[in-house]
Amino acid sequence: MNSLKRIIFLVLFLVSLLSSLIPLAYFSYKVESKLKEESIADIKKEYLISIEFLRSSNILDISSLDSVLKKLSKLFSSRFTFIDEKGVVISDSYLDLSKIKYLDNHYNRPELIEARKSKYGVSIRYSDTIDTYFIYIASRQSIGPFKGYLRMARPYSQLQRVVQSIEQVAWFLICISFLLSLVISILFSRKISKRIYSLSLAAKDFSEGKRSKFVSDISEFSYLVQALNNMANNLSEKIELIESQKRELENVLNNIQEGVVVIDKHMNLVRSNKSFREMVKREEVEGKSFLEVVLNKSLQNKVEDILSKDCIEVVSFRTEMEKEFFEVKIIPFEFRRDKFYILVFYNISEILKLEKIKRDFFTNASHEMRTPLTSIKGYIETLLNNEDILKNRGKEILEVVKRNSEQMSNLLDDILQLSKLETEKEIIDMEPVDVHSLIDRLLQEFKVRIEAKKVKFKKEIAQNFPLVLANNKAIYHVLQNLIDNALKYGLETKGELKIVAEETPLEFKIGVIDDGPGIPPDEQKRIFERFYRGEKVEVKPKGSGLGLAICKHIINKLGGRIWLESPVKNNRGCAFWFTLPKRREEDKNGESKN
Ligand SMILES: Nc1ncnc2c1ncn2[C@@H]1O[C@H](COP(=O)(O)OP(=O)(O)OP(=O)(O)O)[C@@H](O)[C@H]1O
Ligand SMILES: [Mg+2]
Repeated sequence: MNSLKRIIFLVLFLVSLLSSLIPLAYFSYKVESKLKEESIADIKKEYLISIEFLRSSNILDISSLDSVLKKLSKLFSSRFTFIDEKGVVISDSYLDLSKIKYLDNHYNRPELIEARKSKYGVSIRYSDTIDTYFIYIASRQSIGPFKGYLRMARPYSQLQRVVQSIEQVAWFLICISFLLSLVISILFSRKISKRIYSLSLAAKDFSEGKRSKFVSDISEFSYLVQALNNMANNLSEKIELIESQKRELENVLNNIQEGVVVIDKHMNLVRSNKSFREMVKREEVEGKSFLEVVLNKSLQNKVEDILSKDCIEVVSFRTEMEKEFFEVKIIPFEFRRDKFYILVFYNISEILKLEKIKRDFFTNASHEMRTPLTSIKGYIETLLNNEDILKNRGKEILEVVKRNSEQMSNLLDDILQLSKLETEKEIIDMEPVDVHSLIDRLLQEFKVRIEAKKVKFKKEIAQNFPLVLANNKAIYHVLQNLIDNALKYGLETKGELKIVAEETPLEFKIGVIDDGPGIPPDEQKRIFERFYRGEKVEVKPKGSGLGLAICKHIINKLGGRIWLESPVKNNRGCAFWFTLPKRREEDKNGESKN
């Protein structure tokens, strides 16, 4: 039996048992006392008659008293005793006078004590002499020459039998009421606990989300059910709100590009965003230790150190992880009296790279400019200080000055063009480009250098190669730099230079291929960066490292791609490829998709 059922059962059982027992006990007590009262009243009447009889009898000595008492005893079926003032029995109707002396002193018998206080003394008690219950009544009397107490005693057995039968009936009724209480309690406790159980079962189902509404046919529970339903509704609304706020927060967090993670003071991960999980290459991190998830020792030490100082202000530092550089900000905050820390990982690799590019740019640009400027300055000083040289070799020297100024001007043009392309505002106009004639013009430009190196030149382009919708100047510029590079860095004497143009269903593909030393794999990914110049080449011809960066920007603007394949053949050679999308006339003025 469960505890609620047991309590209900016990309460019901006790209530129903007591409600039947108490009136029953009261009733039997009342009946018994009424019977006693009436018996005493009866005996008292006979006692008074006996007194009158004794007084009217001519009692002169003890034997006459004894004989009258014995007569009265027969008449009223009672025992009569006369006791003197000191409590000594003088005569007793149940005993011979000769045996009287063996009786105890009666001075302290209850009925006598009471008779001394009031007129009559009554007592009901067990008599050892006769071995039965008696009702005793006594009073002080003067009978003839005798002064003392006249006591009348009657066996109580008759009355006792009546009381006993009443008690038997009462016990029978008690047993019946006990059984009835038991049955009623079991039935009721079962019924009530069943109803409460059904309600609690509904509450349990609700808490597990199996039900959304309480239903009960018990009218007493209607307010409770209503309150529970209201509470349930409020609860589900609140849960929905919290869930949607949680989703919103998660969305916001996951859309932050920086890695964000929240840790507690024991360095356990409480929350993280997608970028952080990608950064540490783990899918599940919540609940795990920061030290277990982020394996970078120096970062672990740094965070441990900051947390041990119990910092209250934002702390930031730089760290390197998996070849990427991060600026880490540690933001402490308190939540429900516990301390937590938000760690934000800003990936600054790109910024550092740009910083390096900027540094390289200044170093390169100043270096590139210093060489022609120094030579210009030197020649001008020579001309100014030496009139002979000015007269005889002035023109020749000024030619050199002009070449150096042109070199500087070209460099500045490149920088300017790149910066224009990078701002992405410049729109390149589309026009039909005849690849054949464009390459012929380029060959014309590079003729002297090609012949000087005795380079074999090959043009692999179909005779009927269609006109490409692009921009003549831009394509010319790209090919010019690619051929220039091939001649500068790739082609050795008697080398082979090849220009290829192919057509696929969606685009045109043009390539400049040389059979030079090629470009090592680790340099290949940096080759299109601004100012990047091959580090492993033995001789560094003049150049600023801007050519390929400009090419990449131009091709992207035209909607194509540019890439490098190296080596090409026999572990040598470079093939620079670029594509141009096939456009329709209508797209003529369209800017590139990139
Ligand atoms: N065909 C090639 N063979 C070998 N290395 C090459 C080739 N083309 C380019 N490179 C390497 O790529 C680097 C970058 O070329 P890029 O055209 O961007 O700059 P540059 O030629 O040095 O200078 P600029 O073109 O501005 O005068 C070169 O410095 C060179 O190391
Ligand atoms: Mg170049």
